[in-house]
Amino acid sequence: MWLLAELTYKCPLQCPYCSNPLDFASHGEELSTAQWVEVFRQARELGAAQLGFSGGEPLVRRDLELLIAEARRLGYYTNLITSGIGLNAARIAAFREAGLDHIQISFQASDEEVNNMLAGSEKAFRQKLAMAREVKAQGYPMVLNFVTHRHNIDRIDRIIELCVELEADYVELATCQYYGWAYENRDALLPTREQLERAERITNEYRARLAAAGNPIRLIFVTPDYYEERPKKCMNGWGEIFLTVTPDGTALPCHSARMLPIEFPNVKQQSIASIWNDSFGFNHFRGDDWMQEPCRSCDEKPKDLGGCRCQAYMMTGDMHATDPVCSKSAHHERILVAREQAEIAYAAEQQSGQLGCGGKLLARNERNSRGYSRDSSQTSPASVHVIARG
Ligand code: FES
Repeated sequence: MWLLAELTYKCPLQCPYCSNPLDFASHGEELSTAQWVEVFRQARELGAAQLGFSGGEPLVRRDLELLIAEARRLGYYTNLITSGIGLNAARIAAFREAGLDHIQISFQASDEEVNNMLAGSEKAFRQKLAMAREVKAQGYPMVLNFVTHRHNIDRIDRIIELCVELEADYVELATCQYYGWAYENRDALLPTREQLERAERITNEYRARLAAAGNPIRLIFVTPDYYEERPKKCMNGWGEIFLTVTPDGTALPCHSARMLPIEFPNVKQQSIASIWNDSFGFNHFRGDDWMQEPCRSCDEKPKDLGGCRCQAYMMTGDMHATDPVCSKSAHHERILVAREQAEIAYAAEQQSGQLGCGGKLLARNERNSRGYSRDSSQTSPASVHVIARG
């Protein structure tokens, strides 16, 4: 159903919660235009209906207009997931001409200083505002995404007000998910339960108020699974509806799976049909034969399929383990410790008046990425460039 084309890992920003692999700088060459078109053709033939252009920053690819046009010709519903950096009115018009269906612009925060600090760019916020307006002016719905975390979630009211001012149609208030760079920065990003509950309550109040005023804006609030007792059915089931192709052509059942100790196939060597139907990587976690206890005998297993394989691997070193989010997991303690650390850090930040300004975050950039090798992707690089917050 869903093909996600990660066209490039190049990105002008350096968000510390990026879900791209830590070692992206050491990955192989990007697929050519012709290779991408062939991926789209084969996946469409297999039944894929929706195509997301993502990255890195997909606007970096100069052939994006052409890829959109080809995707449209093949009959996909197309979606551009972008930071807005590298966008301009002429390019939006060209995307429209090529048949792009949907543009989603992501923001880091509702105020310029925090946004630009997290993005690692002084011009990012103004450019995003201008492009959000331009997208709407050219007839697209305005779809905004705010990644929330400990340092901006207390300003959820200001975030929503900004979205109302911009006349947004859909807003995803997505609490950071802890993969890739976000996992490395988790202790500095995870909000407390109280922060989350407050943010959800405020969002619900805005929903009611805006609906009563006839404002059609839709606010979608996404919570992190760290505050659940049962895991999520990740990707709606491994190899069920979702296929990611990375810039170098590696085919994955989810955006993070490359970290797992599995050799995943590459579209340069294998057809999409054989990758989807026959490859070890796509078949290994289909169904429930692979499960260990407590998942194996759990009557809830059809609901969550044991949770997220990547999260299980990141937190336990065993990709077959129960996702530690589950309270039945022998490793659930690790989630409880992370929650507790968030409480302690938040209290300390409040006391020092440094919320949003204290501590360090590891910036997602090429330099830091080169410090990670394929074999040691879960360890921190010896020397890293950090964003000093504030
Ligand atoms: Fe890979 Fe959940 S992100 S299985």
